[in-house]
Amino acid sequence: MKDNILWANKAWTDTFEKVKSTSEEMSVNFPAMTTNGIYSDTDRPWGWVVGFWPGLLWLLYEKESYSTFKDMAIDRELIMDGPLDEFVNIHHDVGFMWQLTSIKHYDLLGNEESKTRALRAASHLASRFNINGRFLTAWNKNDVNSADPKGLSIIDSMMNLPILYWAAEQLDAPRFKLIAMAHADTVLKEFIREDGSVRHMVEFDCFSGKVKQYHGGQGYNQDSAWSRGASWAVHGFALSYQHTKEDRYLEAAMRTADFFIEHLAEDSVPYWDFRAPITPETPRDTSAGACAASGLLVLAELAPTPELRERYFLAANNILHNLYKNYGTYNDNTNQGILVGGTFNYPKGLGINCSLIYGDYYFVEGLYRLKNKLESM
Ligand code: GLY
Repeated sequence: MKDNILWANKAWTDTFEKVKSTSEEMSVNFPAMTTNGIYSDTDRPWGWVVGFWPGLLWLLYEKESYSTFKDMAIDRELIMDGPLDEFVNIHHDVGFMWQLTSIKHYDLLGNEESKTRALRAASHLASRFNINGRFLTAWNKNDVNSADPKGLSIIDSMMNLPILYWAAEQLDAPRFKLIAMAHADTVLKEFIREDGSVRHMVEFDCFSGKVKQYHGGQGYNQDSAWSRGASWAVHGFALSYQHTKEDRYLEAAMRTADFFIEHLAEDSVPYWDFRAPITPETPRDTSAGACAASGLLVLAELAPTPELRERYFLAANNILHNLYKNYGTYNDNTNQGILVGGTFNYPKGLGINCSLIYGDYYFVEGLYRLKNKLESM
């Protein structure tokens, strides 16, 4: 087993060196996606992606003690106080934003202000719970034009639940955990299909709580299987099981993981939608591969039998290794991303075959988890 993952030590060192040089040349605070290899800034200071770059810097700082990365991450966290104080534009993705920044800062350095920021973000997320539909509401008025956001929920929400589990523990306030679990139960019922494929968006009647409509969202259509949505489910249910030990979340994580693994392309990296027609031009989404692989490493610690733990571990290791070998930019110092081959929003023609900051983040998180595994052997 150990020999299979030694590659991750070199990948980690290559990544550290790459990020040292890109962080010096990059002129933006919150890289989102690349055009011709150059990262542009997020288009909205309250956008869901702002936590990933500081989160990536924290992961590297934790193992390398390179203080420039810590300082850069803290600078970004302070800028993020703008949208947190302004409040009206923040949304369901506050877990992505403050989990990877403020909670990490608090965990590593005990900064009390960071803890308060994350508790405020968690309180906002809890307030988005629709009591009749038992789901966390996505977005705000005017954020989306395809459906009425008052009754909309999306699979991405599963990755935001850990900030609620964390707040429940910090404040000894089970209400946060109960909201997270009520939402996870609704996702399990309405988003996860019997075969393990996953819906992106479900629109509920915000008063009765009944399902009104399924939307294709960023996927090919409403019956398809958008691969990043699948990765949010695999990783998110694994984390919900880690925090609650409720078997139904473990079963959901394994069912969605099995679908994901069985539908990977021949190079172990997913196409952007598992049910899109495949032609030689069909793009991959390396961010889906990276996010799922990092989640599979969580699942590999939790699955009930040695065979299943090995299955998920080997799948994760294989995806990450293929991303490193075939999609890494280590020999291309004109590309500021770590991975190419990401797809942001295929139906809208946005961000296709580029680097995406969340793809880079989850790839580094996957390597970080492999490093932890190596260190424990
Ligand atoms: N959370 C939006 C996306 O996955 O693109």
